[in-house]
Amino acid sequence: MRVLVLGSGAREHAVVHALRRSEGVSEVYAAPGNPGIARAADCLPVAADDLPSVAEAAADLKVDVTIVGPELPLALGIGDEFARRGLRLFGPRRDAAMLESSKVFAKDFCRRHGIPTADSRCARSADEAAAAARELGLPVVFKADGLASGKGVLMVRSEDELAQAIEVFFVQRRFGDAGDKVLVEECLSGEEVSYMAITDGTRVVPIATSHDYKRAHEGDQGPNTGGMGAHSPALVIPPGTSRLILNSVVRPAVAGMAAEGREYRGVLYAGLMMTAAGPRVLEFNCRLGDPETQAIFLRLDDNFAAVARDAADGALQTASMQWRKEAVACIVVAAEGYPGSPRRGDQITGVDDAMALAGVTVYHAGTKLREDGTLVTAGGRVLSVCGRGSTLDEALGTAYAGVERIDFTGKWYRPDIGRDTLESLGASAERA
Ligand code: AMP
Ligand code: GLY
Repeated sequence: MRVLVLGSGAREHAVVHALRRSEGVSEVYAAPGNPGIARAADCLPVAADDLPSVAEAAADLKVDVTIVGPELPLALGIGDEFARRGLRLFGPRRDAAMLESSKVFAKDFCRRHGIPTADSRCARSADEAAAAARELGLPVVFKADGLASGKGVLMVRSEDELAQAIEVFFVQRRFGDAGDKVLVEECLSGEEVSYMAITDGTRVVPIATSHDYKRAHEGDQGPNTGGMGAHSPALVIPPGTSRLILNSVVRPAVAGMAAEGREYRGVLYAGLMMTAAGPRVLEFNCRLGDPETQAIFLRLDDNFAAVARDAADGALQTASMQWRKEAVACIVVAAEGYPGSPRRGDQITGVDDAMALAGVTVYHAGTKLREDGTLVTAGGRVLSVCGRGSTLDEALGTAYAGVERIDFTGKWYRPDIGRDTLESLGASAERA
């Protein structure tokens, strides 16, 4: 099989790494890839969201299946572009990717199909947003309708924060057109869980569980980011809950999309709050999570290329995938300034030293090779450093040992990935 991976982040690096372990895969291409991916795949100088060029490359290179990492190409309709040309793509078409690209669509969809989610109102102006906040009662959450790289969500706990949120969304228009409509949502509390599954439009294959850390700073403080770390398995999901999520959220969503003529193929990611009243959907994503995938896919003991091909064909052959019974922790190493404008161009050292440690894998994201061969920072989330272990405790120790070996000016990371999980489990008794 010849496989093309679209994207340039650590998630895509992890996918390429998994494809290299898949039986029957002869060629792996990436567009555009990054310096880490270039060690394992042929990188094409094509942007992931340049749909005609990507499709031409897939046709020229006789690619058997194209796997889309980020949401943007999907929201732009790469699924439709490939379908028109008779090319195979793992990912939903544009009208199905709307589960991620429009939070208002996703919310209405949940209501239509009885999928549990937070109560909300859609606001198109400052006045409507203020009225919605009053009606729901503070605290509430403001969410840009469109794509915002995980940064379009603001918590509103006080009248001051309400005035600020209205300023950010409707006066500054920080999220541009993506913020034309704003979802004002009741604030839920509980443990957050990311749940992903692969679907061919009808059948559903769950992906191993994970826990993602979205806030920038220690103790879940600071602004939302794309994700500062993750571990797999999630471990705090009580027995039976996986099945509950599958049956009350994922299966009804896949069936609902089919019933609406928006057949959903690819990865369906549900971001959930486990409330006292049961799971509630916070968001849907139409692709693999980043950084969850970096942690999860290191546990994959199965042929991802074949599963992706079969899902794209609407013909999944299996009801489950095999995952190693071990823990993986992923620590995102970020550049100064992230999640705002990051510093760029700082020399990165120690990646090979980190990789030399037993159990450490380093995936590249915001990195670039200068002409003289020096590896430098080139984005907010620079590297994902993963550690494997028989327990989460061990996996975290390994991952942080890797992080310690890496250096660049302005390097920072969250020191407390997994800490809450270890605390709720009692670290000594914990077994992955
Ligand atoms: P989203 O992109 O919708 O998943 O939101 C980003 C983050 O904001 C989530 O991971 C939660 O931590 C938080 N969040 C979103 N919606 C809510 C809600 N209704 N109640 C509490 N926290 C929320
Ligand atoms: N880590 C959250 C996401 O991929 O959306």
